[in-house]
Amino acid sequence: MAEPLFLLDMVLALILPLAGVQLGRHAGRLRSGRPVRRWPLYAVLAIAVVRAAVAVLLLLTSGWAVAGQRVLLGLPVLVLPLGWALVAARRGGPAATAWHTAAMGALASSFLLFVPPGPQDLTVAALGCLAVLGGAAAVSRFSAAHRGPAAGRLARLPWQGLIASAGVAVVLTGLATTAPSDHSGPHASSADWGGGSQVAQAAPHHGGHHSTAPASAARSVSTLTGPRDTTPDVRFHLTAARGKVRLSSGRTVDALLFNGRAPGPRLTVHQGDLVEVTLSNKDVREGVTLHWHGVDVPNAEDGVPGVTQDAVPPGGEHVYRFVPDRAGTFWYHTHRDADSTVRRGLFGSLIVEEPRGGQPAASGHVRTLFTHVWPGSGVSFGTHDTPMREAVRPGDPVTLKVVNSSEEPQRLLVGGVSYRVTALDGNTVDHPGRLPSGTDLLLPAGGRYDLAFTMPTGTVTVRAAEGEAALALSPDGHGAPARLGEGTLFDRLTYGRPAPGATTVPDRYDRDFDVVLDSGFGFADGQFTYGNTMNGRMAPDVPTLMVTEGDRVRVRITNRSVTDHPMHLHGHRVQVLSRNGTPATGSPWFTDTLNVAPGESYEVFFTADNPGIWMDHCHNFSHTAQGMIMHLAYSGVVSPYHGTSH
Ligand code: C2O
Ligand code: CU
Repeated sequence: MAEPLFLLDMVLALILPLAGVQLGRHAGRLRSGRPVRRWPLYAVLAIAVVRAAVAVLLLLTSGWAVAGQRVLLGLPVLVLPLGWALVAARRGGPAATAWHTAAMGALASSFLLFVPPGPQDLTVAALGCLAVLGGAAAVSRFSAAHRGPAAGRLARLPWQGLIASAGVAVVLTGLATTAPSDHSGPHASSADWGGGSQVAQAAPHHGGHHSTAPASAARSVSTLTGPRDTTPDVRFHLTAARGKVRLSSGRTVDALLFNGRAPGPRLTVHQGDLVEVTLSNKDVREGVTLHWHGVDVPNAEDGVPGVTQDAVPPGGEHVYRFVPDRAGTFWYHTHRDADSTVRRGLFGSLIVEEPRGGQPAASGHVRTLFTHVWPGSGVSFGTHDTPMREAVRPGDPVTLKVVNSSEEPQRLLVGGVSYRVTALDGNTVDHPGRLPSGTDLLLPAGGRYDLAFTMPTGTVTVRAAEGEAALALSPDGHGAPARLGEGTLFDRLTYGRPAPGATTVPDRYDRDFDVVLDSGFGFADGQFTYGNTMNGRMAPDVPTLMVTEGDRVRVRITNRSVTDHPMHLHGHRVQVLSRNGTPATGSPWFTDTLNVAPGESYEVFFTADNPGIWMDHCHNFSHTAQGMIMHLAYSGVVSPYHGTSH
């Protein structure tokens, strides 16, 4: 629902300035006594009426988080001066000033849509609009009151006047919104998009305390490591190198490999193990790191170049050590130039089993599947871009661990069996209900689902909604994958039932943050561009979320753009509280990668229990590369690393 409304509003906001400029032109004529038409006034009015209807519909369907800024700022700026102009025109009095102001209102309202201010900049934006409208009215008055060459020139408003004022508005807003708002923030430059510019601090929208540890007490990220002196329980060595991958269709891809393969080797460890992984880079020019997606490792082991370490250059090596504290399905990937290097193969699965000596690992048929998009191809299951067939004995328990290593949400169609979603992002679902055959799953980019079922006597099909990739399980291994149409979509919000004694969410929070995802003009790493914004800005200018260890933090994430944004916070798992105002019922929904679709607004909660400087970004790496990165920083933690630009 929200997406077409957003698009319609964008089209209207594109046309509006044209009507606005005409309105301003005719305002100038009103005064010079030349013939005046009223159509520009009615054109602006018509657009304003439709835009108001869009805002009301958005409010009704998506709620205040999505529509509030339009209702409070974007519309009043357009509608109030327009109302004045209509009244003045009806009275037949000297309407030029009102018309000029309404013309400026039209421009300002479009400006607000295409350069959307973040929540932390709303006051500045509102004052800017007031100043611009007031300025237009004042200039118009002045030119009416004075005659003479200067006023005569002013009377030929609006062409020059409007454009000049709009220019001033842009510059003022730009200055106000890109200036760092707090110098005590950490100097966290974004990894591959480094540049090391000052990171501004976001203001919590209410509550919150601002204790910043004195510089002398500052802890460096590099000291926040895993255990360094004890003997590891498991050791792995991953070597990154250039190479080729052959897909099942026979197509060969120029790839990047870990230990000669892509996806890289599956790492199986146990909860509580001290895991040591040595990363070597043979010849990957971009540099390599390892990020343990979903495992809340100590900050220095997190593998974010420019923040927690320097990327490993060709010939270099880096040792990671951490203790996974939760059993589940995770994955690892490089975090350097991730938009091109993960796509080419620098990723693999990390399976954390129950603690040693505890329950035995899941028996039966266990299969890990990546939904991946190799350069230049459609969705594959791992390296299989054509259907796969496998034999499974009827009655055997089957567990499929699906990991989405692509950049888009992937819809999975499941046919031939009813199944349960037993875990999401490595978090067990309590009392998972049985989903009828034909229930689809939407996997966020970076997200994982564990599905479980008992093998029936017929054929089970798992298929990506797009592309040819499919998996057919049948008793003899010959069953052909079924053609499946789209079914109903699984909704985690209401799935499962809380276990008795499940942890409850706090009734009070120490911090409340707003994260608004939108699209607009801005500077991404110093480059002027139209792209995706977080709180009105692009990396490295997105304000940092500042917390103190122990804080209970609530974040509202709202998507006002027309694309999906899978939001991934490093170092913490979050619990979903609500979506568009509807509380999450069912088994507590823990996630590390939350797909926020257009018009969706989620409230999530986490405890600040892992000190460091953490990335919080969109896991669509092409969006990441364009600046959808913010940081979560603990007061008193600093990073000695600086991003090196590519
Ligand atoms: Cu899986 Cu910062 O990423
Ligand atoms: Cu995104």
